[in-house]
Amino acid sequence: MEKVVFITGASTGIGKETAKLFQAKNWKVAATMRSPEKAEDMKKIVDLRLMRLDVTEPESIRSAIAETLEHFGRIDAVVNNAGYGLIGPFEAASEEQVRRQFETNVFGLMAVCREVIPIFRKQKRGVIVNVSSISGLTALPFSSLYAASKFAVEGFSESLAYELEPFGIRIKLIEPGPIKTDFYSRSEEIARSENLHVYDERFEKLLEFMNKGGEAAPDGGIVAEAIWNAVTDGSKKLRYGVNTKGLPALKRSMPESVFRALAKKIFLK
Ligand SMILES: NC(=O)c1ccc[n+]([C@@H]2O[C@H](COP(=O)([O-])OP(=O)(O)OC[C@H]3O[C@@H](n4cnc5c(N)ncnc54)[C@H](OP(=O)(O)O)[C@@H]3O)[C@@H](O)[C@H]2O)c1
Repeated sequence: MEKVVFITGASTGIGKETAKLFQAKNWKVAATMRSPEKAEDMKKIVDLRLMRLDVTEPESIRSAIAETLEHFGRIDAVVNNAGYGLIGPFEAASEEQVRRQFETNVFGLMAVCREVIPIFRKQKRGVIVNVSSISGLTALPFSSLYAASKFAVEGFSESLAYELEPFGIRIKLIEPGPIKTDFYSRSEEIARSENLHVYDERFEKLLEFMNKGGEAAPDGGIVAEAIWNAVTDGSKKLRYGVNTKGLPALKRSMPESVFRALAKKIFLK
């Protein structure tokens, strides 16, 4: 029987590439997004159904899951991909920006898990793939809020993996380094405050480093491959790094003070 994957944030980037890859591998795809009306090109793909889902609206999650079950009859894997990066000095971020970052990257992902876990538990199988980031392992300067949200995804997933294993549910963490998507343009949110300029020089250096990295990076297809492996390799492996440039291993290999001195040179040079 053909299997079914349910993906959030499938309008662009990693989510879109994942939808295309699973469809090419003969899976049925529930490609969910905030504005399906804008994804004309995806409408024509056979066995791929576009659905509206905003991770900050629980009702839209419930109705997309119900529509998937009604249309395809089952769900085998969920890819929690929707997310964006709020960057800039913490001091410059408004309370509303901080909350929205967590509402999307953390509480939105949890809300999808809340709906799908009972379904997977009853059917005694299922894979939940949470798209984290290298920023969930190593916090870059001026990424305090994005990193906090992805560190939260890491802790949540690591714990959940133990909890759900007896029910045949596997949790997977995807940890990409820089990937060329709308993450560095349309989706990037910068925290700025009119009268706060003391951070400008260092922040501009970080921004240049990040945007250059994003521009030169591979596209979302490489992450889609990792997600495919995570869903289908049958293993209990939790973490899948993608284009991490060896940074997590480097961090583990040396005393923290040495790593931090090196990181300052790399990120703020
Ligand atoms: N690109 C990178 O370098 C990189 C590295 C590590 C991790 N990641 C992670 O990869 C994931 C995908 O990002 P991407 O690189 O593919 O960037 P992207 O092209 O900007 O895609 C982000 C997706 O998330 C969706 N989204 C944002 N808020 C949402 C909400 N409230 N409800 C539903 N969908 C929402 C966007 O929808 P709209 O089209 O409606 O805006 C878009 O489909 C994110 O979780 C990101 O943190 C990216």
